[in-house]
Amino acid sequence: MSFDLVLFGGTGDLAWRKLMPALFQAFRHGSLPPGGRIIGVARDDLSDDQYRNLIRARFDQVELAKRPSAEEFDRFAALLAFVRMDASKPQDYQRLAQRLRERNADTVVMYVATAPGLFTAVCEQLAVAGLNTPKTRVVLEKPLGHDLASNRAINETVRRVLAEKQVFRIDHYLGKPSVQNLFALRFGNALFEPLWRRETIANIQITIAEDLGVEKRGAFYDSTGALRDMVQNHALQLLCALAMEPPINAHADAIRDEKLKVLRSLKRWSAESLGQHAIRGQYTAGRIGGEPVPGYREEPGVRPDSTTETFVALRAEIANWRWAGVPFYIRTGKRLAARDAHITVNFRPTPHAIFNTPLGAANRLVINLQPKDGLELHLLSQGQDNRHAPRPGSGTAAQTLTPVHLDLDFDKRFGSERVGAYERLLLDVIDGRLNLFVRSDEQEEAWRWVEPLLEHWRGESNGLRPYAAGTWGPSASSAMIARDGFCWSEEC
Ligand code: BG6
Repeated sequence: MSFDLVLFGGTGDLAWRKLMPALFQAFRHGSLPPGGRIIGVARDDLSDDQYRNLIRARFDQVELAKRPSAEEFDRFAALLAFVRMDASKPQDYQRLAQRLRERNADTVVMYVATAPGLFTAVCEQLAVAGLNTPKTRVVLEKPLGHDLASNRAINETVRRVLAEKQVFRIDHYLGKPSVQNLFALRFGNALFEPLWRRETIANIQITIAEDLGVEKRGAFYDSTGALRDMVQNHALQLLCALAMEPPINAHADAIRDEKLKVLRSLKRWSAESLGQHAIRGQYTAGRIGGEPVPGYREEPGVRPDSTTETFVALRAEIANWRWAGVPFYIRTGKRLAARDAHITVNFRPTPHAIFNTPLGAANRLVINLQPKDGLELHLLSQGQDNRHAPRPGSGTAAQTLTPVHLDLDFDKRFGSERVGAYERLLLDVIDGRLNLFVRSDEQEEAWRWVEPLLEHWRGESNGLRPYAAGTWGPSASSAMIARDGFCWSEEC
């Protein structure tokens, strides 16, 4: 099966940092189907060879293990081509159409990695140029809109020119091996299913912490913020994977139907919950890894009086039989104490205590997403020294148990060189597998849930809490969870 993969934004940041390296890894692993061509599209005036040379220079900057040898690059470069075009100019699409006609490949993937403002124009112009044929697949990067109305407008345009099964809305978290393991854990093993419910689970915490700041994306981030950048998509997709019912099979729509139900069951925000269950913060200067770093408002591209949030902590509830009353806490932020994404499932304590049990850290399943990838099951045990354990009926004080944990490290077990998120997702698009992509109704429902928060924060002048870079965010986030009698995983 031959394919042409057209990369709009072919000289952009995402192409350099993620897409080209992922395509090269797929090529190196031999998983890129033969008969493929990768066509970079951008406004730059470049020949195919100049484009290849640019990519070669970029590859010199990637980490050594992922860098191609000269011979490998030459073989990869043979797949590359370039078309100069301005995606906002209708006449330029003819140049692309002509290039595609050269080969008439079986599948044509249009990867739209441009500024979000161009998504609808690209889709419309593809149709005008007759490039929306049944063999076309379009990949749309996030952010798809900045609120429900703009997201719907994009989806409506897309729907006019393409069938839903031709649209691949990317959320790269779904491509991470650790996130796919979450599906495997829940739906490939019967062990946890009976426990996966309100009767046994006290709360679930989703943490996506980054130690990086806004890097070179200050201007983009300043008009976006953590809620739109991370919660509306990545964090809610994780929440769906945790809370969804077992799908009837592994087909894309079976999975997406179940995720959609979770999003629809999210309890809507009330005036009270908006005030108490949604914390937002912004980092000030601090230290990361011992080195001083500037505050958010000092970052290039950020307005000096910006009120954009770089941290969010939320308490969500899912109003259905399985989860009623179980808080799902979501927390994400930039310039936090560590790069650490993990999920903590806290089980309820024993109903009647015959041992002394230390607080926290036990009865807990930790799903590590990154940088570690694995599972930890935290339990209480007798510990090392049981010589002085009280005998039943001896009247002495109850024995104190020791927290221990079972540790399954997927990197050690399977090697850390597993297929990366973008590699996996690009191969899925080429093969036409939609399981790990987001359907329009899911996306709209996620926007519907976050929108009241956007509204609330727009009108709220003093709700933004500063936190020093290198910490776990504003103390209000700990206070929010403490009100329910719980604490974040690193606190207990
Ligand atoms: C992106 C966000 O979607 O995800 C970035 O726009 C964020 O701000 C990134 O840094 C995090 O992805 P990862 O894979 O590094 O956790």
